[in-house]
Amino acid sequence: MSDAHTIQVEPGGHRFAAQPTQTLLAAALQAGVPMRSACRNGSCRACLSQLLEGQVHYLVDWPGISREERAEGAVLPCVAQPRSDVRLQAGRLLWG
Ligand code: FES
Repeated sequence: MSDAHTIQVEPGGHRFAAQPTQTLLAAALQAGVPMRSACRNGSCRACLSQLLEGQVHYLVDWPGISREERAEGAVLPCVAQPRSDVRLQAGRLLWG
């Protein structure tokens, strides 16, 4: 049995599975969805996206988004692991 969650990335509605131990970015890249990234440690904000639905857990205590941004749904997929099915609005996809 798999504990994988379903991740959907907009625009485009790309859907793929992510394990709870995988970051959203790693799962996206593994599935061939080329989300933009740079540092991959939660500091540069290159991957900044909007969490439309679902819950995530951060690998780092203070990812590079403010408490207010987080409350508004900002998410950094490079350091966020899924805790439910997730729907994201990618800040920048390399293709639409
Ligand atoms: S790639 Fe740098 S914050 Fe996500």
